[in-house]
Amino acid sequence: MHNWSPSSWREKPMKHVPNYENIKHLQEVEKVISTYPPLVFAGEARDLKEKLALASEGKAFLLQGGDCAESFIEHNPDNIRDIFRLFLQMSVVLIFATSLPVIKVGRIAGQFAKPRSSDNEEINGQELLSYRGDIINGIEFSEESRKPDPERLLKSYRQSAATVNLLRAFSQGGYADLERVHSWTLDFLENSPIGEKYADLAGQITRSLGFMRACGITSESVPQLKTTDLYTSHEALLLGYEESMARVDSITGDWYATSGHMVWIGDRTRDPDEAHVEFCSGIKNPIGIKCGPSLDPKTLIRLLDKLNPENEKGRITLIARFGFENINKHLPGLIKAVNKESKNVLWSCDPMHGNTIKSVSGYKTRPFEYIMNEVRSYMNIHKDLGSYPGGIHIEMTGKNVTECVGGAVSIKDEDLSSRYHTHCDPRLNADQALELAFLVADEITSTI
Ligand code: PEP
Ligand code: CO
Repeated sequence: MHNWSPSSWREKPMKHVPNYENIKHLQEVEKVISTYPPLVFAGEARDLKEKLALASEGKAFLLQGGDCAESFIEHNPDNIRDIFRLFLQMSVVLIFATSLPVIKVGRIAGQFAKPRSSDNEEINGQELLSYRGDIINGIEFSEESRKPDPERLLKSYRQSAATVNLLRAFSQGGYADLERVHSWTLDFLENSPIGEKYADLAGQITRSLGFMRACGITSESVPQLKTTDLYTSHEALLLGYEESMARVDSITGDWYATSGHMVWIGDRTRDPDEAHVEFCSGIKNPIGIKCGPSLDPKTLIRLLDKLNPENEKGRITLIARFGFENINKHLPGLIKAVNKESKNVLWSCDPMHGNTIKSVSGYKTRPFEYIMNEVRSYMNIHKDLGSYPGGIHIEMTGKNVTECVGGAVSIKDEDLSSRYHTHCDPRLNADQALELAFLVADEITSTI
């Protein structure tokens, strides 16, 4: 490899960098974090990579999702439980339909830093720095709050540690026991058509478990029935933080990002010659690359050569995010280039980021119909080209928010103001996310 080190990105051009007033303070904080315990272990990141490798071969499916931006204010055990439970519900829907293992990866426990289209934001004639995520500055529109503050890195680390801790407890402590499939029903789902569909499915699973119990197979004898894995992921955007969380794995001697199991490179920072790609090229975690309309096939191949020179399976997940109107124009060319060069990748679909519009009432929203349309096109394109549509990547929350319009319990433009809580992009609520899981399940079973 070239002269990579956890700090070699500092020599490269870089976009979306916050402007800290007190660089010394920032450096002190980064130094402190570099002495802290890892949030995840290298061995876990390797396990995830192996599972993603299976998905790239069509033998598993990736379900990645969570907040657009985690926030300090929404950090509480109920929110973590609700998103965990939504993951369980969506994955049983997908597993039951496809008979494939589902790999659950949260945008969680580190998804704080945001790229912004503009450095500044203007409201009523006042111009201030844009909000860049709670790890950098505050969302409140005041000069003080919008100043990048290094202390926020420490708070983000601690919040991520507490989140990972609770996720591990939920995963291993009995909450995920399939025998409890009925009890995962979220309260508001009980009154929705999707809730009924889910209750029906849960009934079928319970009957299958009853049959297996009679044959001597229970969650006591087969622990896989009562535990699960939820991996963590986030965009590797704030590289000073990522550098301070990079550690050498004592078993292999390789560098890993220990801030999360998987990290991805955003659509705005994936220049092969720039800092974000440089940092990710030297860590061994699974890496996601967001692929938007401005990515041409040649650059994609350069990116793959740089980030995965050994063409290792499971290393790269390509997250297509074109928008329902653009996917047919852009995705086929990328798939053909990847196939032609025999690159090993896992394809995933982010039907959120290319489908954002401003509603009549002024809210940033995403019509559920556009999201469904992009997923359908994604599946059809893969079917035509003989590749495997191995995952989805969505922004969602376990809460009953009103941020995306449409869905079976139709959210209308005039409903958006009632529970619009996101710190960045609009998320699917639990009902809409589960509805999407049913759609994806139908589409994959007819595609593969
Ligand atoms: C995101 O995932 O929140 C995001 C900013 O995505 P993208 O880089 O694809 O725009
Ligand atoms: Co987003």
